[in-house]
Amino acid sequence: MNKTHHEKLIDKFNRHINYVRISVTDRCDFRCTYCMSEKMQFVPRAQLLTLEEIAFIAQAFTELGVEKIRITGGEPLIRKNVMQLFENIGKLPKLKELTITTNGSKLLTLAQPLKDAGVQRINISLDSLDPERFRKITRTGNLESVISGIDKALSLDFKKLKINSVILKNRNHDEVIDLVNFAIDRKIDISFIEEMPLGIIDEHNRDEVYYSSDQIKTDLECSHELIPTAISTGGPSRYYKIIDTETKVGFISPHSHNFCSQCNRVRLTAEGQLLLCLGQEHSVSLKKIIRKFPGDIEELKNVIRNAMDIKPKGHEFDLSEKPIIFRHMNVTGG
Ligand code: GTP
Ligand code: 5AD
Ligand code: SF4
Repeated sequence: MNKTHHEKLIDKFNRHINYVRISVTDRCDFRCTYCMSEKMQFVPRAQLLTLEEIAFIAQAFTELGVEKIRITGGEPLIRKNVMQLFENIGKLPKLKELTITTNGSKLLTLAQPLKDAGVQRINISLDSLDPERFRKITRTGNLESVISGIDKALSLDFKKLKINSVILKNRNHDEVIDLVNFAIDRKIDISFIEEMPLGIIDEHNRDEVYYSSDQIKTDLECSHELIPTAISTGGPSRYYKIIDTETKVGFISPHSHNFCSQCNRVRLTAEGQLLLCLGQEHSVSLKKIIRKFPGDIEELKNVIRNAMDIKPKGHEFDLSEKPIIFRHMNVTGG
């Protein structure tokens, strides 16, 4: 065996998979209207992967050439003892980047432990700077605690923080300039996301509230000069530099600028399902494999390798139709 050989995961469309997003819980302390319906049924705790099993699967992926792992939820920071998982994944020798996507509600106390565990970048969801509106969008969230969490993380010198904002017409589209100014003041980046039709929600009709990335860009250009860049963090954001600032603004545009041909990622749900695409159902149960062959990492790696063959070409979102994917975003964390 050639010891210098480094394995890569490659799918049928010749895409190189080097990024895994792991959802550690489908539960959340918020109920964002575009993500969930008012009443949600969550996975019974007994069906979740244990933290040890998640770390084992993460190890298998890094041995298959995955260099970037993002921990998501639901809200990842509400899972009991989750910091142990960050510590264990943070120690995987082949991993280059450990990141998290969070709603920010627990960052005031957990930003420091995350930093200590080796987390380099944090993406924080923030859709409004108005406390009442923030409450309406998240149904349960408290703006002040999220902002103090962001400011705590800022004080700790992470390599990068990024704000994620889902923009909806007549909900928060009038805040895009304020949100960008919030990011500029803090010298951090911000991405605007087009809502995706994942799961049935009850607060709005997704077609009616669609607000395109191009529209946001036009709005921003009234007050800021944007310069296109070729920068990529390995995610789907297209970044523009805002002139005279240290902030980049990104656009995640599943409807208006499809990025599936560049896809480099797969997802693991909290129940142990390996999802090959956010917008499709193709999946393989890794939980079944690791419980059938406990501790057998080669068997697990084989199943993961073979799963690449069923990674679909891309998603086919249509906002004017009923969602065809019944899985809500909290199952995959985006
Ligand atoms: P970095 O580039 O590492 O900062 O991550 P990111 O921007 O990919 O991750 P983040 O968790 O901030 O995700 C932002 C949004 O992008 C989420 O709403 C995701 O749902 C969306 N997104 C990420 N990957 C995909 C994808 O493969 N397909 C689609 N349709 N959306 C995605
Ligand atoms: N469409 C687009 N983005 C969504 N998010 C949650 N639900 C949706 C949806 N249906 C966002 C969150 C978070 C990121 C991980 O996904 O706001 O920033
Ligand atoms: Fe929770 Fe994130 Fe969904 Fe909001 S978008 S309800 S913060 S999982």
